[in-house]
Amino acid sequence: MEIIFATNNAHKLSEVQAVLGDGFRLVTPRQCGIDEDIPETGATLEENASQKSHYIHERTGRDCFADDTGLEVEALGGAPGVHSARYATDGHDFAANNRLLLKNLQGATNRRARFRTVISLILDGREHLFEGIVEGHIADHEAGCEGFGYDPLFIPDGFDRSFAEMSPDEKNAVSHRGRAVRKLAEFLKSIEAGRNVK
Ligand code: IMP
Repeated sequence: MEIIFATNNAHKLSEVQAVLGDGFRLVTPRQCGIDEDIPETGATLEENASQKSHYIHERTGRDCFADDTGLEVEALGGAPGVHSARYATDGHDFAANNRLLLKNLQGATNRRARFRTVISLILDGREHLFEGIVEGHIADHEAGCEGFGYDPLFIPDGFDRSFAEMSPDEKNAVSHRGRAVRKLAEFLKSIEAGRNVK
């Protein structure tokens, strides 16, 4: 099955492709001639994921999905949440975001946090949502150089290493995105199985 994944983030693309496996060929917006930044102006992860998938669907008419992820930190009232990409600056400055997060948690004893991913799939013109969550905590210093974003600071429950110290397979096995994408894959496989029976 060929499907558009509304991202130009190479890390996300390879994480999602690894979970979906060879049965799915992911196509990027750029490969469909969509070069501009896809707007994400919603107030929630659900709204943003939905806005991105609809943007692509309106321009291509093809099956597609988009994800939106937020890091929700308990002691910060759920921030940065939907603003995770632009926490410290207007751009996607991962290093600045991590520095600000450490500064805002200085001296905090409660460092509980979770990543939440929402995927919006548009298949045959209908929208379906999938969610994935991983609980953990924010370390007091960065560690590791795998992954992207807040990975060097996030330690999932049951581990003593950050996501950035894990291989892509290890991260995918427990991560927010891995969990959401496995739900998406189950759904797509069930639809495909139904189509083959007809
Ligand atoms: P996005 O809107 O889904 O791209 O995610 C918003 C921001 O959350 C990104 O710019 C990253 O800073 C962060 N983020 C998303 N997914 C991950 C992840 O898997 N690990 C670490 N940070 C992430």
